[in-house]
Amino acid sequence: MYETKNPPLTPELYEYVLQHNPPLDPVQRELVEITHKQLGDAAGMQSAEEQGPLLAFLVRLVGARRIIEVGTFTGFSALSMAQALPADGKLIACDISEEWTAYGRRAWAKAGVADRIDLRIGPALDTLRALPTDP
Ligand SMILES: C[S@@+](CC[C@H](N)C(=O)[O-])C[C@H]1O[C@@H](n2cnc3c(N)ncnc32)[C@H](O)[C@@H]1O
Repeated sequence: MYETKNPPLTPELYEYVLQHNPPLDPVQRELVEITHKQLGDAAGMQSAEEQGPLLAFLVRLVGARRIIEVGTFTGFSALSMAQALPADGKLIACDISEEWTAYGRRAWAKAGVADRIDLRIGPALDTLRALPTDP
């Protein structure tokens, strides 16, 4: 368990949230652990672990088939959302760091969702501007 993010919760309330949240699967758990072990303070950028299942729930709720993520870091939120997409769904993941997203690439492959994620390295504004305007 890592620190709660915003809004700050008491340790007891955060523990309650985690206990009542769907558990992370082994690939998600490993990615969270590796990020914290290997990236030190930068790991604070990772989406909080309880946000993964929430994002997956929202993807299923709206029946999303295509997603654009701005800011992928080590790929936890992208992994969580891609797993909730249908098999032919697509997620465009935007980030400027080859180093950080390399963790994500490995996890996505391990989870069998690499084919749903199109990682684009470069400033997200450039990536977004280059997208076709037709759906
Ligand atoms: C808060 S982290 C994203 C956390 C991620 N969604 C997760 O689940 O772990 C922010 C990310 O934005 C990326 N970033 C910063 N400026 C950017 C830009 N102009 N375009 C694309 N990505 C950018 C950083 O490299 C960093 O990986």
